[in-house]
Amino acid sequence: MCGIVGGVSKKNIVPVLLDGLNRLEYRGYDSAGIIVLSEDKKFDLIRSVGKVEVLENKLKARKNKIKGNIGIAHTRWATHGEPASHNAHPHVSKNSVSVVHNGIIENYLDLKENQLDQGYKFLSETDTEVIAHEIDLSMRSNNNLISSVQNAVKSLKGSYGLGVISSKYPDQIIATRKGSPLLIGISKNGNYIASDQIALLSLTKKFIFLEEGDIAIVLIDKVTIYDSNGNEVVRPIKSSKLKAGQVDIGSYKHFMQKEIFEQPQAIRDTLESRISFNSVNISAFGDQAKKKFKDIFRVQIIACGTSYNAGLVAKYWIEDIAKIPCNIEVASEYRYRRPILLDKTLFLTISQSGETADTLEALKTAIKINKNILTLSITNTAESSITRLSELNFLTNAGPEIGVASTKAFTTQLVALALLTIALGKSKGNINETQEKDIVNGLKRLPGLITETLQQAKQIKRLAFRFKNKNSALFLGRGTMHAIALEGALKLKEISYIHAEAYAAGELKHGPIALIDENIPVVAIAPNDELLEKLKSNIQEVKSRGSYMIVFEDFGSKVESMPTMEIVPITSNLGRITAPIIFTIPLQLLSYFVAIEKGTNVDKPRNLAKSVTVE
Ligand code: M6R
Repeated sequence: MCGIVGGVSKKNIVPVLLDGLNRLEYRGYDSAGIIVLSEDKKFDLIRSVGKVEVLENKLKARKNKIKGNIGIAHTRWATHGEPASHNAHPHVSKNSVSVVHNGIIENYLDLKENQLDQGYKFLSETDTEVIAHEIDLSMRSNNNLISSVQNAVKSLKGSYGLGVISSKYPDQIIATRKGSPLLIGISKNGNYIASDQIALLSLTKKFIFLEEGDIAIVLIDKVTIYDSNGNEVVRPIKSSKLKAGQVDIGSYKHFMQKEIFEQPQAIRDTLESRISFNSVNISAFGDQAKKKFKDIFRVQIIACGTSYNAGLVAKYWIEDIAKIPCNIEVASEYRYRRPILLDKTLFLTISQSGETADTLEALKTAIKINKNILTLSITNTAESSITRLSELNFLTNAGPEIGVASTKAFTTQLVALALLTIALGKSKGNINETQEKDIVNGLKRLPGLITETLQQAKQIKRLAFRFKNKNSALFLGRGTMHAIALEGALKLKEISYIHAEAYAAGELKHGPIALIDENIPVVAIAPNDELLEKLKSNIQEVKSRGSYMIVFEDFGSKVESMPTMEIVPITSNLGRITAPIIFTIPLQLLSYFVAIEKGTNVDKPRNLAKSVTVE
């Protein structure tokens, strides 16, 4: 939530800040702002409500161009204070200190009271403005910027990634983080800060990932880092494998569309070097995985949103195939209860970003409750907070996902979870070679099967108008397809703002069937599996109550056609692992085309942000 970018450069920093903001816009798009120190060491600030594009136009329209070698910038997802120019970051205190902030300051009202007594004036309703004043306050008795920031953050309760500049120290940016991501980009033309490496990929591939509590002085040719105890530390410079082009939209209209169509390649990249011939390399989960998985007696999965839906599919697989008891819970609940965590538990967090605050906190809670658990993360982001806190890691290698609605991250998470199911089952002696070979072969077929399924885009597009004027929709599935129905409903509500619910089809008669009439389109997912006949009965129950239905089926499912029912055969002969992955594709396409019909903002739906790093 919220994107930060900043830099000290030999050249004018403004184009770097603008480019960075554009690339970080997925993190928040309520308002944006830039501040630079101009040649005469004075702040030059520009902010605007809405997308970065609005800020860019405002900059173009300005007569005296904003210019400087040092600056910070921010794209906002509002928490405290409505999206408005005066609430946009950067915030300034006494023309001396300016800050950009990602996170939430919980005790800002207490700090504000004291600062009002000290004569500070407030120009915004944000929690961030107190940080600028707190640093300025500290500068009264401190003769350098870094110790003022160190001092100020001691009084903050909550989470922050911060970029700070001062007109009194015009050669440096102070960067610090606690609970929100922040990294430093190193180059020969200058040094930069950002919430995400994709903001800086056109400038550098070399990054230092700040640890929790670190604070850094970023100069044009030098970076010095201190840990949370104030000791100078050396953090490794890592080379990013990402390419700048990966975050460009190319010939597609939307990132979501691009990411849906990238799935065959994303899955190839997820499988790459994780399987050899017919078997899964358990070491793909970490060098110690083979040894440690043997001792596992249960699995606890924690995640949010789409990642939670992937975990729900995995619960079926892990119990059914690997024969290990498996629980799953949303992170925002788990972190606030007092769960029982037994030894020999594999605590699995799933997160595209690796930065979701609830998931990260749930992981920290789990480690506090029982140090003997084995932690494993499945993320799409190397060096993320969740990755770094987990003992074992698996990177999905889906490439950057920019569209707020998760697509390729979901299907690659499912592939990772399928590999994990085999790895666990093998380690426990619960899967034999034939089963492993079958599943691995199924996984290898996925890129081809998805490519075929994507060819049905035109047919699915044709169905989208049916949803245009509807207020609600219902998604039905059984077994793993219930989880896929949940994911389909989440996609639809996220980007087309249609209320959508998903039900395990057998649960319909216990309540939701009362909702059904001709105004609620119903989508059913009908693979040719052991639950098909039961699902067919549920389809009849719905149909006889007059709703319009779309059934995505296996060629072999042979669902009986009825009036106002579209049957869309998707594929055939899918297995337990491949079916949920393939049936995800038509649901992604359907929600994408419905959003296009409705003219909503597909990549940046209202009220949402890609990476939810606040509670
Ligand atoms: O980065 P994460 O996977 O931890 O994010 C979790 C959710 O915020 C995320 O999946 C969200 O639900 C997506 N926008 C769904 O499309």
